[in-house]
Amino acid sequence: MTDTRHLIGLLLGTEQDWPRAFEEILGRLGPVAGPGGTRHTFDCERITIEPFDLRDRPRYELVIDRLAYWYYHPREWLKKVALMDGVYLLNSPFTFQSMEKHAAYCAMMRLGLKVPDTVLVPYKNPVDNARYAYTAARYNKSFDLDAIAERIGYPLFMKPYDGGAWRGVSRISNPGELHAAYNASGEMLMHLQKAVDHYDVFARSLSIGAETMVMRFQPDQPMHQRYAVDHSFLAPSAGTEVVTIGRLVNAFFRWELNSCETLVAGGEVYPIDYANACPDLALTSLHYYFPWAIKALVRWCIFALVTGRRPRLDLETDRFFAIADQPGASYGDKLAAYAELTDAYFESERYHDFCASSLGHLDEIVLDWVAGPGFDQLLVETVQSVYPAHEHDQFIAHLRGLTSLWAGDEGSRLRS
Ligand SMILES: Nc1ncnc2c1ncn2[C@@H]1O[C@H](COP(=O)(O)OP(=O)(O)O)[C@@H](O)[C@H]1O
Ligand SMILES: [Mg+2]
Repeated sequence: MTDTRHLIGLLLGTEQDWPRAFEEILGRLGPVAGPGGTRHTFDCERITIEPFDLRDRPRYELVIDRLAYWYYHPREWLKKVALMDGVYLLNSPFTFQSMEKHAAYCAMMRLGLKVPDTVLVPYKNPVDNARYAYTAARYNKSFDLDAIAERIGYPLFMKPYDGGAWRGVSRISNPGELHAAYNASGEMLMHLQKAVDHYDVFARSLSIGAETMVMRFQPDQPMHQRYAVDHSFLAPSAGTEVVTIGRLVNAFFRWELNSCETLVAGGEVYPIDYANACPDLALTSLHYYFPWAIKALVRWCIFALVTGRRPRLDLETDRFFAIADQPGASYGDKLAAYAELTDAYFESERYHDFCASSLGHLDEIVLDWVAGPGFDQLLVETVQSVYPAHEHDQFIAHLRGLTSLWAGDEGSRLRS
């Protein structure tokens, strides 16, 4: 029997919760059987940032990145290891290099999805660059902001083309608010987007490789209550559509760790935000769904490594556009055809077979860990690092309640 060792690199910012959980589960998992009787073992290391020679060979075979959105040095390192060394990255650093929403809006409109009408307006203030000031003075055409807003119709949203975490997002109901928000936008480049008003439900789906968890999101709640534990908040057809849209965005851009926000109004599904290269994986916000997220991350990384899945840098957009342009095909026909392409990209069938045959014991391992003292310690330390002292008891109790609810449900599922 041949033995293969794989080293996984974690490129991290400030997070401790999911990396600790990931390291712990990987350690408990032990060797995994691969095709042809091979035996695979896994190590995991946190990557340090240091000078690198462009011809150096990296030690990692797969990297989970949570940093490159903010820091250019690791971002450029990721591009180097993707192009030169075939390192497996969950998100393509080329299509996610700026994490801007703009390209994602364009792609999904091109594929015929119901993205609300969106206009990109020029900077309110030109960026601080001597030449740009000259260009702007000479070539920026004056435009009528009110007329654009009127055409889109109120209410609308003004939001940065490359936003995240609600930075710079405002809801606009009249010309006064429009001008105030635009004047305040300064050097941020802004989209105006028609609001999906009076929506019935906000679905946030987190995709990790071939798996997607659709969660009911409550944006008006404080962070720890935003994800509601609710297993049947969408009609089956809307549920399928939401999953397909998230997977479509990901397969199109070669993203495998991303969250997608859709608003469901009167049975129609409107995607509004689906370029989140560093999606929320926090224990304090995901709570009940946190063990699933860790499992899915472990499963997908191991699947990629053991089966020798190749990272794909080419987009082959024509295959998607051919579906979009099919004469006579309805929206439903197109979604079904996209779903086939996304299944092929994520190797869905092979993935699920692999999980069943080689990772069947992972569920018990994770349940055992979540029900034990190691997880509780992580929970307590996470709360202590996130909340002020006077709130510790409240949030520890809150998270213990939700994660033991998960452990109960999971226990019943495994026994049934
Ligand atoms: N077109 C829209 N219709 C309704 N609500 C919207 C729309 N665009 C944004 N929002 C609201 O604003 C929030 C933040 O906008 P979003 O595009 O998700 O940016 P961010 O990347 O900062 O999360 C959304 O979660 C939603 O509540
Ligand atoms: Mg968002």
